[in-house]
Amino acid sequence: MKKLLHIIATCRGKESRTLKVSDAFIKAFKLKHPECNIDELNLFDAKLPELTVKKLDGKYVLLGGGELAGELKEAWKDIEAHIERFLAADIYLISTPMWNFNIPYILKHYIDIIVQPKYLFRYTQKGPEGLAKNKKMIVITSRGGDYSENSPFHAYDLQEPYLRTIFGFTGITDITFVIAQPMDALGPEVAAQKIKEAEGRAVKVAQEI
Ligand SMILES: Cc1cc2nc3c(=O)[nH]c(=O)nc-3n(C[C@H](O)[C@H](O)[C@H](O)COP(=O)(O)O)c2cc1C
Repeated sequence: MKKLLHIIATCRGKESRTLKVSDAFIKAFKLKHPECNIDELNLFDAKLPELTVKKLDGKYVLLGGGELAGELKEAWKDIEAHIERFLAADIYLISTPMWNFNIPYILKHYIDIIVQPKYLFRYTQKGPEGLAKNKKMIVITSRGGDYSENSPFHAYDLQEPYLRTIFGFTGITDITFVIAQPMDALGPEVAAQKIKEAEGRAVKVAQEI
């Protein structure tokens, strides 16, 4: 049975253009995999743990090859719970708008929580090794402007390269982007057309999984 973790990084609910495209993906995915298990994690509702000094002390113990014990183990309970939930999935759907040419802070917060030594990567003599193997990721995003390859603003897109880099580092290299753009720069009619096109691509991606 396929297990999909839907990570939501927009707080706009029904107003979200990103989630409109994701809804089309999920409908098509459910049709293809009626037995699938979908776990929804809305990061704005999740009350993600703060990375306190104690939690960071734990991270440095792990980076040094040690094990967490006592107070540090206790401090890491909620981090471990998020990592466990993440690793339980074999497919990820990330729904995220572009914010300031990158991802919203809440998604960066989540990444800072789950990307941990021993759990998602480890250092070896040959360099870092990602530990999240045999996973697939679909990133559905919408942007106010247009950053497509032929646009003069392509280099401003720090979102796709960042997500490919950080999740690639954890071992997730099979990543497909579905992008709706521009959502704001050319008015509502263009936005509506671009959402429709992105929904079509999202359905195709879902059917091919
Ligand atoms: C805080 C904030 C920052 C944004 N930064 C950018 C940006 O750098 N580039 C861009 O093209 N659009 C930017 N936008 C516009 C959103 O990416 C766009 O409206 C998107 O469709 C919103 O997605 P949503 O409806 O799913 O929330 C920003 C919007 C907000 C609220």
